Amino acid sequence: MTESAVSGGMSALLGFDPLDPGFRLDPYPHYARLREEQPIFRSPLGFWMVTRHRDCSLLLQDPRFGYPEGDAAKATDLFAAGFSSQRNFFIFMNPPDHTRMRDIVRAWLSPRVVRSLRPYVQAAADRLLDEALRREEFDLIGSFAHALPFGVICELLDVPGDDRPMIMRLAQDYLAGIGPAVSVTPEQHQARDEAVAALNDYFRALSARRRAVPGSDVLTHLTQALDGGSMSEDELLGTCILLFVAGHGTTTNLIGNSTLALLRHPEQRARFLAEPKLEGSAIEELLRYDAPTQMSFRVALEDVPLDDDHVVAAGEQVLAVRGAANRDPAVHADPDRLDLGRTDNRHLTFGGGIHVCLGSALGRMQARTALRTLLQRAPALALAGEDLAYQESLMVRGLKALHVSTGPGAVVETER
Ligand code: HEM
Repeated sequence: MTESAVSGGMSALLGFDPLDPGFRLDPYPHYARLREEQPIFRSPLGFWMVTRHRDCSLLLQDPRFGYPEGDAAKATDLFAAGFSSQRNFFIFMNPPDHTRMRDIVRAWLSPRVVRSLRPYVQAAADRLLDEALRREEFDLIGSFAHALPFGVICELLDVPGDDRPMIMRLAQDYLAGIGPAVSVTPEQHQARDEAVAALNDYFRALSARRRAVPGSDVLTHLTQALDGGSMSEDELLGTCILLFVAGHGTTTNLIGNSTLALLRHPEQRARFLAEPKLEGSAIEELLRYDAPTQMSFRVALEDVPLDDDHVVAAGEQVLAVRGAANRDPAVHADPDRLDLGRTDNRHLTFGGGIHVCLGSALGRMQARTALRTLLQRAPALALAGEDLAYQESLMVRGLKALHVSTGPGAVVETER
């Protein structure tokens, strides 16, 4: 955060003040004010923010918004300084390269693959809780919400157990460094780029091992696609890192944010357990209510009018604030209420358009399994204090830790 940004007043720059101590705890009233007063907001820093559901959906669907290529990629410095280190993540590509890459990966995150992973996820959830529930109090994020999806993504890529702690540290450095230059320090951006370089080296070596001894994992499939000429080595490495970082931080925060929401709404938690049929709509509502990913950015590839008064010039960046769109009363009745039975739920938590999340089925399955197992095995689970600390990112919404007390009646060991 630069001195001038602070003295200039963050509200004037971002439309809300992320330095306000209340913002991290509850950004939603801040978003609501912006959505009501300046739904299409142009920051003096030269980028736009849209907060209405309608505008966010249009932005995500409109092919006139995408990612700049070649030298124009410098334009994204505000949101992704050093963006070049991530050019090979297909999440930042335009068609036709995006389409080609997405098609290669799609089959590995299909409903069939997700179904086949279910027993692994259930067993992993039980194993982690066998350990955590022995204690009267534990940090749900460190012991459960993070460990579960991290293990799953390592399984998908078949990362050897000994390498996992190192990979985890690199992924953390990467995740801490994503976000606008106004909220991430140059040191964090540098650490992120160093993490990408180290992950590139790691996956290059792992891919060579899969070439020598093929397995039945995603990396073997990607290595065969590389050898068959369907992608470059840089694209293979970018895809491994993308899957790795997109695949677990988001799911960790979904499990963490959802647990917190259910602990704060005992009547909804009781419904979750009493009405198993509600599980599907419950997960959608938890995704809407406190989304793990709050914003996405796009760059205008040509001049695009957003309405009669606002034209985004080619090269300018626009942030779609999906955390605000998910609470837009024009689309969701009584949007600040958590209602696990909500039927008309049009949340944008998995994005929309061509970049809509490829891992949504996997994320949903893990969250369902994690929440059901946790709440069934620890019927008296409670918050151990209201002192919550959130990650410092603007784009990501997740707790650093969530201290819970186990309470009486916990099933410490499952029969397996
Ligand atoms: C459950 C929590 C998850 C959330 C909230 C989430 C959210 C998102 C969002 C919002 C996007 C679109 C970003 C944009 O348009 O700018 C996205 C894309 C993506 N996600 Fe997820 N995600 C989750 C889980 C996963 C998992 C488990 C995986 C894979 C193992 C995954 C892999 C991807 C990939 C590969 C893309 C890029 C798709 C493309 O560009 O075509 N995600 N995700």
